[in-house]
Amino acid sequence: MWRAGVLTIVPEIFPGPLGASLAGKALVAGAWSLDVVDIRAFATDKHRTVDDTPAGGGPGMVMKADVLGRAIDAAAADARPRLLMSPRGLPLTQARVEALAAGPGVVLICGRFEGVDERVIAGRGLEEVSVGDYVLSGGEIAAMALIDACVRLLPGVMGAAASGDEESFTGGLLEYPQYTRPQVWEDRPIPDVLLSGDHGKIAAWRRAEAERLTKERRPDLWAAFRRRFRSGSRSG
Ligand SMILES: C[S@@+](CC[C@H](N)C(=O)[O-])C[C@H]1O[C@@H](n2cnc3c(N)ncnc32)[C@H](O)[C@@H]1O
Repeated sequence: MWRAGVLTIVPEIFPGPLGASLAGKALVAGAWSLDVVDIRAFATDKHRTVDDTPAGGGPGMVMKADVLGRAIDAAAADARPRLLMSPRGLPLTQARVEALAAGPGVVLICGRFEGVDERVIAGRGLEEVSVGDYVLSGGEIAAMALIDACVRLLPGVMGAAASGDEESFTGGLLEYPQYTRPQVWEDRPIPDVLLSGDHGKIAAWRRAEAERLTKERRPDLWAAFRRRFRSGSRSG
């Protein structure tokens, strides 16, 4: 079973959206498990203190290495990757999500305040992972995004498994536009080709649209896709 462990000072946030819809059904069905660890339980003083002022001064508070270290040692004594949710990390990609979903699970550490004492990152071999170039108030929503992206790839979780194959990012392109009934909505018809029944033409149209959208919206992805295509690692 794919196991997600989450270390947080706000455990009541979980499972949140992970308890609903596809991920929630898969959780109940036992396709994955969620262990939420309250970091405060590893504090030793009567106020259950998890943070202190930054060494060298400055605003805010820093999560203490001793408390967090004990929480990690208790919660993550196995081979799962230990990821610290952090805006300083490498941005999460679909390729990384696929690799994580194929493994035993993840242990996610959620920062709060100004972040965590640098020594616990080195001392516990944490890899920093970002969900984008913006700053959240805590790592919990980032952890939920990572877990959700992994869980939907687990065997049997997505209704139609094949719907993942042509999704945005999977083949290096953004997904083509989707339509469904009614055939005309507010004078906007579904493109004729999609109603033609000609599977070859439909596939060619979708491919052309995926390339057009990727080129227009994400020149970075388009350039990477072209590089892969030219180096021959894709069949087309
Ligand atoms: C207010 S933020 C700290 C930001 C930190 N002072 C900085 O400038 O990099 C508190 C916590 O939210 C989480 N967080 C914020 N933005 C994130 C992002 N883009 N990706 C992943 N985690 C994030 C991290 O766990 C972080 O320790």
